[in-house]
Amino acid sequence: MNKETLTWVGKWTFILAAAGSAVGLGNIWGFPYKAGTNGGGAFVLIYLGCILIIGLPIMISEIMLGKRYRGSPVSTMKDAATESASSSNWQAIGWGGLIAGVVILSFYSVLAGICLNYIFISLGLEGEIDSIAKFQQVTSSPLQLLLWHTIFILITAWIIAAGVISGIERMVKLLMPMLFILMIIMVINAFINGNFSQAFSFLFSPDFSAVTANTYLSAMGQAFFSLSLGMGAIMCYGAYMSPDQEIYESSAIVAGLDTLIAMLAGLAIFPIIFAYGVEPNSGPGLVFISLLSIFADLPFGNIIGGLFFLLLSIAALSSSISLLEPSVAYFAEKNILSRPIASFMLAGIAWFIGLGSLLSFNVWSEYTFIGSRNFLDSMDLLANQFLLPLGGLFVAIFAGWKLNPSIAKAELGGSEFVFRLWQFFIRFISPVLVFGIFIFQLI
Ligand code: TRP
Repeated sequence: MNKETLTWVGKWTFILAAAGSAVGLGNIWGFPYKAGTNGGGAFVLIYLGCILIIGLPIMISEIMLGKRYRGSPVSTMKDAATESASSSNWQAIGWGGLIAGVVILSFYSVLAGICLNYIFISLGLEGEIDSIAKFQQVTSSPLQLLLWHTIFILITAWIIAAGVISGIERMVKLLMPMLFILMIIMVINAFINGNFSQAFSFLFSPDFSAVTANTYLSAMGQAFFSLSLGMGAIMCYGAYMSPDQEIYESSAIVAGLDTLIAMLAGLAIFPIIFAYGVEPNSGPGLVFISLLSIFADLPFGNIIGGLFFLLLSIAALSSSISLLEPSVAYFAEKNILSRPIASFMLAGIAWFIGLGSLLSFNVWSEYTFIGSRNFLDSMDLLANQFLLPLGGLFVAIFAGWKLNPSIAKAELGGSEFVFRLWQFFIRFISPVLVFGIFIFQLI
């Protein structure tokens, strides 16, 4: 297909697809446990700040570049640099993005596989269970993890192989409404079975005594990851946007939906955590261990639990496709490989790297890679604290300082005031903050 003419069919598809990319494990699994371990409200506030002043300007830039140059992140950056008479080295942003996408997909799929597995574990719950032992049992078996990791990544590859319209567009139109309905059911469940007011004040009344420098770092990393920024995923989806669609409005809706779902996830999880006297700061095991034991106790808990993990899996799937699409788009546009072959091949690479993450739960749990981190945590660190912030930083520098402002103005449209506001943030605020926080973590 000619890349110039490939455009989402539905008017809302860009928003659904970008929100599908943004809303994922980061929102429903990551955000609640990070808010829980970082003291609640203060983290939430800093996170919201990061979304607004760092995330949103960069998201606008990614969409703008994609929409104008209409290619994979590599060719988008290359064409953008050429048109503004800048060095073609800027295409390195695109390459970094393709690599980051495959790296993130590798461990994302292992985690999403555990969510898939938990749908069935929850449905089969009868009475009391030892949820710590259950989690250990699930993660100690390389074969069981392998099975679900393989299933998840095959579904991802299959959707991407089917193409932008008949794969991605069709799936997000199906998955996103399901996700929203399931989320509402979960919040209603928390309202009925949980301690809503305690959860509300935990999430929304900031206690700054728990805030450390690390809180800022973690909140910024979370904002990048949650909005899917810094690796060209949103840029790539922007490339399929219809030329007459509004960029500011679409970005605000996507960032707003992403934030809304993260908050709703908090309101679905913390009320029952508090009602059952579980500590909110139990870390990554919050949903797999704390929630599972509560589901075992709740009336119809097996069904509620099954629906919860179905929700997580759906959210993960609409995100994982956006991790694979940019690199597949590159191979397909250059006619190096056909789209289906590129999908399965790149997914195969991510699958293979994922084996390291899968083994870090069991056989390799003692091996450390970066610092004292196991393989999974090292990949997570590499992607979230290096590749994504660096990608975001360079997108900001390019869009703010290198891209011809008249091009940005023409693509963004809207009023002069909003344009100046964006320009101010993308030049002086977002890159400076990302750079500052990035350097800070290195020292
Ligand atoms: N945003 C997704 C989440 O919150 C993960 C994700 C999908 C992502 N695509 C991305 C993260 C691109 C960074 C870059 O789970």
